[in-house]
Amino acid sequence: MKTPSSSSSGSPTKIRRIAICTGGGDAPGLNAVIRAAVISAMNRGWDVIGIRDGYGGILFPERYAGQGTFLLNRDMVRGITHLGGTILGTTNKGNPMCFPVKQPDGSIKEIDRTGEIVNYFSMHEIDALISIGGDGSLSISHALVKKGLKVVCVPKTIDNDLDKTVATFGFDTAVTFATECIDRLHSTAESHQRVMVVELMGRYAGWIALNAGISGSAHAILIPEVPYDLEKVAAKVISRDSQGRHYTIVVVAEGASPKDGHLSVKDQAITGTAERLGGVGETVANQLKELTGKDVRCVVLGHLLRGGSPTAADRLISLRFGAAAVRALDEGASGIMVALDPPTVRYVPIEEVAGHMRQVPLDCDTVNTARDLGISFGD
Ligand code: F6P
Repeated sequence: MKTPSSSSSGSPTKIRRIAICTGGGDAPGLNAVIRAAVISAMNRGWDVIGIRDGYGGILFPERYAGQGTFLLNRDMVRGITHLGGTILGTTNKGNPMCFPVKQPDGSIKEIDRTGEIVNYFSMHEIDALISIGGDGSLSISHALVKKGLKVVCVPKTIDNDLDKTVATFGFDTAVTFATECIDRLHSTAESHQRVMVVELMGRYAGWIALNAGISGSAHAILIPEVPYDLEKVAAKVISRDSQGRHYTIVVVAEGASPKDGHLSVKDQAITGTAERLGGVGETVANQLKELTGKDVRCVVLGHLLRGGSPTAADRLISLRFGAAAVRALDEGASGIMVALDPPTVRYVPIEEVAGHMRQVPLDCDTVNTARDLGISFGD
């Protein structure tokens, strides 16, 4: 990682106008990043253009009656730090690097539309872009940088699966909410002597399940990094029963899969859109019912993890990221992602992060803590 002072990948050039967009699934803290970036930029005398719905505002002007991009002002970002969602809108469909276009014979052809975005910036004299997003957005930004655009990225995702940053914003809010939900399940599970299975988002990484599972005192946590054997989880349920503890909480990450089994996929990937995971919770619940003979219920928290007001911790890193992104551009940096590396925010080259998913390392202290507490990973 580079330190802010050594980050410039070019000599600082005078910036007058920047654009900002949010891409991928929404995450609590997006509006705080936008607010910090807009105010920091305006305080430097720059204009800030908002792009609607990822790059939709540029690529589909007909959808927006001429308002696909618009000048942001202070009033528009006033009082939004605590609001979930994004005032710009977002999308995780139609990646402009492989945009699906239907051919006369009904087949789908992938078209690269990133050149249109770069042209838009030059036609409208926009000097740089702040792209707030996850892995998909980083790859698009990388392509835009290679075509000559100045881009600084801000790492967003509730999944916390981006490399080279200690945390992404949105993660803490997701973990906090999931923990509260798990807390609430203890009393109903105990009253009915049930096994409660809680499925949590997180794609191919177990960060949310691991952190919320430990914090919420789950008895088993199944994550993508540890293929599970449900006989082991059933043994845990039965052993708890024999000790007079007639209920069990099992947290399952949506990307968890059994040993020698496969992922639970709801929708297959199609051109420009990633596959959608989900369903493993119900499968685990049905199998645990078979194996233990107990009453089992499944709760899927799904998109509830992405909604609501960001926690104070997420607000703060979001505001820090937004301000740091503007400082980076002011220093002449481009092709970088701002990254949390306490106590500072550093700049990391995009190519070191794009396409590098960060999973839970199995030798980390958090996993060791879970094992020391007797939590089963089903292994
Ligand atoms: O990446 C964030 C995330 O919420 C994942 O945890 C989940 O797999 C995915 O997005 C769901 O996406 P969608 O909004 O398309 O259902």
